[in-house]
Amino acid sequence: MIKKVGILANGGDVSGFNAVIRAIVKTAENNGVECYGIIDGYNGLLKKQFEKLSTAEGGEAIGILPKGGSIIGSSTNANIFNYKVVKEDGSVQYQDLSEQAIANIKEFGFDCIFTLGGDGTQKSARDFSTKGVNVIGVPKTIDNDVACTEITFGYNTAVSVAMEALDRLHTTGATHHRIMVLEVMGRYAGWIALEAAIAGGADVALIPEIPYDIHKVASKIENRKKRGKHFSVVVVAEGAKPKDGEMVVANVRNNGEGVDNTKLGGIGQVVARQLEQLTGLEARNTTLGYMQRGGTPTAFDRVLSTKYGTKAMELALQGKFGTLAVIKNGKLDAVSLEEVVGNNTKIGAVSGNTQESNLRKVTMEDDLVKTARNVGINLGD
Ligand code: F6P
Repeated sequence: MIKKVGILANGGDVSGFNAVIRAIVKTAENNGVECYGIIDGYNGLLKKQFEKLSTAEGGEAIGILPKGGSIIGSSTNANIFNYKVVKEDGSVQYQDLSEQAIANIKEFGFDCIFTLGGDGTQKSARDFSTKGVNVIGVPKTIDNDVACTEITFGYNTAVSVAMEALDRLHTTGATHHRIMVLEVMGRYAGWIALEAAIAGGADVALIPEIPYDIHKVASKIENRKKRGKHFSVVVVAEGAKPKDGEMVVANVRNNGEGVDNTKLGGIGQVVARQLEQLTGLEARNTTLGYMQRGGTPTAFDRVLSTKYGTKAMELALQGKFGTLAVIKNGKLDAVSLEEVVGNNTKIGAVSGNTQESNLRKVTMEDDLVKTARNVGINLGD
């Protein structure tokens, strides 16, 4: 019988964090289980910052379903087995602080920890579970790239924000006869770009999984021009790269040490400049950035997050630890965290969203790719 559980949010925030937290708390309360928020991810676990969450009068988990962000914070320091510690003199060291975290879990009496996060968080959750901690993961990320699930919470909201941006870029682009480029997030996966391009009626979508030829993109725009369409809308994933070229890195954090240290960004501007030169049309780039992560979740994300939260608590009640709540063939299910990390098995090694991670990327067989091509979206190949 479990009596006390902790919720830990990790990685970049998404819309839907709070909806998951609320669903876990409500399901826990209905089953006589006490819930605590672990403040600021692993930071709170190390500092023993735990906050009671409840939906009783005056409780912290009331009214949070539509709220963006995370009421318990989140940390991008996602790997406790290789944790970034800033020393007093400002120097940075990476240490394995898992034993300290496990001691705190035991001392406070948590029977289970829910890890809300992307592949990096689920990797360290799996590492925790090999050390005997009861963990259950919930797949979060706007990038939609967590292995073994068909969709992560936060993704749909990001796509909706990108779609709205495309609608707006359409009208200004059409007015001024310009090429409007929209750079969206997604790290090494093109899900946001591809789905937003379909939803927003874009003419081109460039994604990391299909290295592009800029001349093919320019031809698409030229053909539109010949048909009297003097504007075009181009979606570029931040991880898109040209054939025989590299991704554009905005900066490398922490001197390249630790995990999650490569910040992508800048490809939108590069593509806009090249298309301007090749087509003679004016081009403008908009980088959508953190708009994709903030604010209220869509109805879809509220429902998905609620499903995930209740499923995670159900798994805990059934003692099915070391698993990730997933959507498989459209239905709630669970898979082992071992399956989720795939070949990235070494404890404490690479964690965080890196190119070595076991990521779910767009494949050429995906319906979205076929659909995009069928409606004439140029994928740069
Ligand atoms: O993984 C989620 C994500 O929003 C990516 O799409 C983006 O590349 C990255 O996080 C940005 O990270 P940060 O919050 O560290 O700038």
